[in-house]
Amino acid sequence: MRYLTFALAKGRLARKTMELLGRLGIRCEEFYDSKTRRLIFTDEAHKMKFFLAKASDVPTYVEYGAADLGVVGRDTILEEGRQIYEVLDLGLGRCRMCVCGPEDSRERLSHHELIRVATKYPVIAKDYFYNRKQQTVEIIKLNGSVELAPLVGLSEVIVDIVETGSTLKENGLTVLEEICGLSARVVVNQVSMKMENERITDLIRRMRGLVKETD
Ligand code: PRP
Repeated sequence: MRYLTFALAKGRLARKTMELLGRLGIRCEEFYDSKTRRLIFTDEAHKMKFFLAKASDVPTYVEYGAADLGVVGRDTILEEGRQIYEVLDLGLGRCRMCVCGPEDSRERLSHHELIRVATKYPVIAKDYFYNRKQQTVEIIKLNGSVELAPLVGLSEVIVDIVETGSTLKENGLTVLEEICGLSARVVVNQVSMKMENERITDLIRRMRGLVKETD
């Protein structure tokens, strides 16, 4: 039997995913060693391999078949636009993608003025404004701390992830429009889905059972 390979977005999500798989009896002892710098872990009994990648690279590994499966946030899946199947909502890390800004940007937004939108997610922002709202805006790509942009006059609004809303609140910003809900998803390589269909669908079915239990 060949190894089934999982690409995990490193960090909290990878740990949560391994916890979930642990409840199905799939375990890699080395993964829980907090000092390890290893990137690849193996469960010989189940012929499974897991590797830790940067979140935005997970869809790439899965599209090219370097991983059969992946676990990553829906924000990354939408932004990367890779040819992969999204098969299961794990319900982890639930949050929302929103257009946010100071209250006084609300009118300029609703009057379709030519506003500037700062974001780490230019593809999602473009799709929302150009395709869904048919509104012309200027999109400015940033790499983090996006809430800064309207505070220092780089943009009128931002497109960003809102979880608790405390970052917005502490910076005098608010949600102006909601784009979509987000959470961690299991994605599958399109060829693997055919070649390893039984193993993959069985695994997804068992993972779905656990997700339902904790819902
Ligand atoms: C994310 C997001 C917001 C914040 C939202 O940033 O971009 O800034 O979390 O969370 P809250 O609604 O609970 O305050 P992250 O910490 O991932 O870092 P970033 O600045 O690099 O985007």
